[in-house]
Amino acid sequence: MAKFSKSLERWNDRFSVDHYLFGQEANHYLVEQQKYLKTGSVLAIADGEGRNSIWLAQQGLHVDAFDFSPVAIQKAQKLAQSKDAQVHFMCSDWQSFDWGQDRYDYVVGIFFQFADPRDRKELFAKMHQTLKPGGLMIIQGYGEKQMEYKTGGPGVLENLYTEELLKSTFSDYQVLDSRTYEKEISEGDGHEGMSSLVGFVGKKL
Ligand SMILES: C[S@@+](CC[C@H](N)C(=O)[O-])C[C@H]1O[C@@H](n2cnc3c(N)ncnc32)[C@H](O)[C@@H]1O
Repeated sequence: MAKFSKSLERWNDRFSVDHYLFGQEANHYLVEQQKYLKTGSVLAIADGEGRNSIWLAQQGLHVDAFDFSPVAIQKAQKLAQSKDAQVHFMCSDWQSFDWGQDRYDYVVGIFFQFADPRDRKELFAKMHQTLKPGGLMIIQGYGEKQMEYKTGGPGVLENLYTEELLKSTFSDYQVLDSRTYEKEISEGDGHEGMSSLVGFVGKKL
């Protein structure tokens, strides 16, 4: 983990507050995809303080979630306990996570734009690898206009998404939803205010 120590320290510091930095409610785009969630297993990547994985467990799915911040994981476990939700939380960075092959019915990635284009390519490949054929990839991130809004996200243009980026990365997927939009969001003080957003739901064929 030495390679990430600066970034890990930064995230641990950000999460070391009494409240939930990204709130306790699931991301709005994920909630909008409820109609696609049937039964099965899901992996929530870079899940932070658990708001999304807990909501997924409440939908009746078997949920694995990982994040590299032990501070976030501890808060996630506490939140899950208070909501009586079962989530298998793992403390791991994405590079050393055991992704397996064709393991999950759903892979959910919400606001994980810490990855620069090179890392992102590798990370997307891992997400693809672990998703079963027929499974759904659900991704939410900030769009390029977020550089103007500055209401959350990495503040690094090359880490932001366009619909084209996601569609071309998952080019052999059936696209169920792809959109670029602007919305006033309130997902904790980490994501607050008018935002430029990109959402993608694709089915691995
Ligand atoms: C913007 S937060 C989003 C958290 C969560 N997905 C949500 O929407 O509430 C980004 C998360 O990525 C995690 N993270 C950053 N770098 C990581 C890495 N290399 N491996 C795993 N998690 C990482 C951080 O700890 C943080 O929880």
